[in-house]
Amino acid sequence: MSAQENGGGLRGGTVLVTGAGRGLGREVALRLAERGFTVITGMRRPEPLHGLEVLALNVADEASVRAAATEVKARHGHLDALVNNAGILLDGATGLMELEADVLRHTLETNAIGPLRMAQAFAPLMPKGGRIVNVSSGGGQLSTPAGWAPGYCISKTALNAVTVQLSEALKPRGIAVNSVCPGWVRTDMGGAEAPRSLEEGANSILWLLLQAGSELTGGFWRDGARIPW
Ligand SMILES: NC(=O)c1ccc[n+]([C@@H]2O[C@H](COP(=O)([O-])OP(=O)(O)OC[C@H]3O[C@@H](n4cnc5c(N)ncnc54)[C@H](OP(=O)(O)O)[C@@H]3O)[C@@H](O)[C@H]2O)c1
Repeated sequence: MSAQENGGGLRGGTVLVTGAGRGLGREVALRLAERGFTVITGMRRPEPLHGLEVLALNVADEASVRAAATEVKARHGHLDALVNNAGILLDGATGLMELEADVLRHTLETNAIGPLRMAQAFAPLMPKGGRIVNVSSGGGQLSTPAGWAPGYCISKTALNAVTVQLSEALKPRGIAVNSVCPGWVRTDMGGAEAPRSLEEGANSILWLLLQAGSELTGGFWRDGARIPW
């Protein structure tokens, strides 16, 4: 099925979700599959997921991303949407003054450079109306500085900058690029104390695919509402 607009949202098409083996990525992938999308699940260690298409993909590895794009082009010829969901949080209990440069570098590589290299590799496969959804975090907001996980938060601020830059770069091709915060969600990363269920967190991400109009680009969103950078 090719991508079609449905009052703004996509109602079909081929979507690649990174980090789809667990957590929010898995939930988003399964929910899209329920709705009839062709879902490609990107995983560092590929494992079967309810019969969905699996793609070996490490977003922190240039060669892996390039090979994945070649594979998707061969299998499908195009991609309607990319959900840059894969992410790491390595410094939850670290204060900024103790943050090690290597931890920050590693975090940036996955959380900010990874989504950029994914967009560079996959945007050429996207038609007009294509969408890139960058799963960011309220921790990356400059307007509300977070007092936790400084490396992670810096990486999400950088990801938001990637979103704005990509949005401008891809506007002439009609590809929308946005950041979204899922809220604080009960996953391996979010922990058991988080107030939001997987379903609630995934809804925030899915809004940009299923409800938002393709003209919305270069924004930061949570639960379908714009939030400040
Ligand atoms: N949970 C929250 O409260 C919350 C809040 C705000 C934003 N977010 C964001 O939401 C996204 C998903 O978070 P989550 O809570 O679902 O986290 P999670 O449960 O820790 O899952 C993270 C996923 O990312 C994958 N991943 C990590 N590094 C990767 C790489 N280099 N290449 C490919 N995949 C990689 C992991 O794969 P492996 O299984 O191979 O490790 C895993 O599938 C992240 O971007 C996170 O920053 C989460």
